[in-house]
Amino acid sequence: MLDQLAELETKGLSELDAAADAGAIEAWRIAYLGSKGRLKALMPRLKDVPKEDKAAVGKRLNEVKSNLEGAFKAKSSGGDAVPASAGSMIDMTEPGLIDSAGVGRRHIITRVRDELVEVFAQMGFSVAEGPELEDDEHNFIKLNIPQGHPAREPIDNFYVDDPLKSSLPRMLRSQTSTVQIRTMEDAVAKGWGPPIKVISPGRVYRPDTVDATHSFMFHQIEGLHLDRDVSMVDLKTTLFQFARAYFGEGADIRLRPSFFPFTEPSAEFDMKIALKPGAEPAWIELGGCGMVDPNVLQACGVDPEQWSGFAFGFGIERLAMGKYNIPDIRLLFENDVRFLEQL
Ligand code: DAH
Repeated sequence: MLDQLAELETKGLSELDAAADAGAIEAWRIAYLGSKGRLKALMPRLKDVPKEDKAAVGKRLNEVKSNLEGAFKAKSSGGDAVPASAGSMIDMTEPGLIDSAGVGRRHIITRVRDELVEVFAQMGFSVAEGPELEDDEHNFIKLNIPQGHPAREPIDNFYVDDPLKSSLPRMLRSQTSTVQIRTMEDAVAKGWGPPIKVISPGRVYRPDTVDATHSFMFHQIEGLHLDRDVSMVDLKTTLFQFARAYFGEGADIRLRPSFFPFTEPSAEFDMKIALKPGAEPAWIELGGCGMVDPNVLQACGVDPEQWSGFAFGFGIERLAMGKYNIPDIRLLFENDVRFLEQL
């Protein structure tokens, strides 16, 4: 009996190996594993085996059965033979081969933007939006950047041809500060504010030469908080709280006096960051901030005698690079999956 089993196994496996298409595999299954197949045919003979050998032979019988079944399973799912009726063999309810297709995820900039919105939301800021295609008035004039100011030079901005020939020059916005203006105008026109407490994340465009820290398109997040008696202390508290919430309790930050046409006083907001793992941390400028200039409030119909406020604008790429130790801004836009998969 043991010899017969061994022969059945060897022959069965080699015949299965030779089966070239789905029809042959199925014929093999019927011949060997079917209800009238060779394996079944051996079963009744177990009763003729001497009592003392029964356990060993029974064990071997199971072994051969499972080897043949295993080989059959492997062959019919392994795919070197095309199933004769492929349509009926595909189970559409089975999950696909996810690993080989690759699982997508949101881009790191999108994730950082959402994290920032979340942190500021917890501090009471809601989200405001504005267009990327802007006009001179919102990008410059109402932000206290008059005609002739060097920031308006065509070489530093993406002005666009305007087929509508509107009276105001149009451009891709160079800063999200435009949304401060639009939000104040909207609040005054519709009577919902001030008080105003908004942030606005979005794309901005500048014709900068691309290098490790510059790109012609990047993202900023703008903040505006207007209320009665808002002071520089509120600004500092908000920014420090934000930095600790986003970067952790140990975040090393400072405000440094600076100048922006739309804030008075103005400051730059720096943080000590090591952009490369293991490198000495250095002060990196994250953005600008300050108390909203009364001229800006007035231009939007807000009475500076009654309301005061602070504003800030950060580069989202800088924040992402600082948090995730990304040494080169270009990595964020080249979309090399080998890089994106690491985040
Ligand atoms: N808009 C400025 C820039 O792009 C950043 C900035 C500075 C925004 C001061 C502000 C601010 O809201 O108050 O460089």
